[in-house]
Amino acid sequence: MTKHWVAPRFGGSEVLEFVETDVPAPGRGEVTITVRAAGMNPADMKHTRQGDPDDLPVPVGYEVAGVIDALGPDTTIASGGGAVGDEVLAFRVNGGWSERITVPAADVFAKPATLGFAEAANLLLAATTAADMIRVSRASGGDTVLVHGAAGAVGVSLLQQLRLLGARVIGTASERNADTVADFGGEWIAYGDGLEHRVRALAGDGDGDRIDVALDCVGTDEAGFPAVGGAQAASKAFRDSVRQRLIDLAGAGDLVVPVARTFPLAEARAAAELLESGHPGGKLALLP
Ligand SMILES: NC(=O)c1ccc[n+]([C@@H]2O[C@H](COP(=O)([O-])OP(=O)(O)OC[C@H]3O[C@@H](n4cnc5c(N)ncnc54)[C@H](OP(=O)(O)O)[C@@H]3O)[C@@H](O)[C@H]2O)c1
Repeated sequence: MTKHWVAPRFGGSEVLEFVETDVPAPGRGEVTITVRAAGMNPADMKHTRQGDPDDLPVPVGYEVAGVIDALGPDTTIASGGGAVGDEVLAFRVNGGWSERITVPAADVFAKPATLGFAEAANLLLAATTAADMIRVSRASGGDTVLVHGAAGAVGVSLLQQLRLLGARVIGTASERNADTVADFGGEWIAYGDGLEHRVRALAGDGDGDRIDVALDCVGTDEAGFPAVGGAQAASKAFRDSVRQRLIDLAGAGDLVVPVARTFPLAEARAAAELLESGHPGGKLALLP
């Protein structure tokens, strides 16, 4: 048995319940992980708020880091090998806010020793999303890119991945997060009234000075924006294909995951409230 968080009905943090459940022994192609940190993403709570009633209770959490507890027969993890006691991260999983979880080995990767569990558990959902936004928008080295919501998890990953490409990045954030944008290589401007004027003033409107690509990490409801999501087939395939490359970047220190705060797993409701505030100030992790 283990304890994990579920939404037994649709709603916000108030509906979450910490319940006992069986952890199935891993079959062929599966791995059981003792979770050391569960990552938190806005998507966790979006999927507890609405959906198909047949999916209730909804297990919460899409990514974890931990230690291999057991492997199915003839099973290797996605990064190769794998043995009991190995430190790993897993994405995309179903029900990561858990003490133990059995998941497909194809979603389990060796954790670089340089990454802490809280960082590793929060790397891949945001980083694969950022990589996908770069793919879809075709942002490249010579571009000036506007990133809206640049101090959030996806925004910070975008700043770093765009910097590696050599792009110039202008990033919006609230004033208290100006330093975060600058620390990750962006030029900060405040969002809110007058944004367009500030963008024009900073980007310039002469030859070669313009915004080539605009990436929205906030969810602005605007006609004409192509939206990307992990449920789209092309996005899912691309995101799965770049996981190892992003883990390698993080392991080498080229993709930092700023963790704002950790909570005991049992306090997931309080953590979810902070997550849903829209201003968590960095990634949050749940520690069993
Ligand atoms: N479609 C997908 O595949 C996908 C994948 C991942 C995430 N998402 C979505 O992308 C969004 C960001 O995710 P995240 O993990 O980066 O979240 P996050 O870490 O919570 O960051 C949210 C950011 O939004 C900024 N923000 C909040 N209100 C704003 C406003 N009115 N105007 C401008 N910026 C505002 C905040 O900036 P300040 O704190 O500086 O105010 C904060 O940095 C969420 O809606 C999430 O659900 C979608």
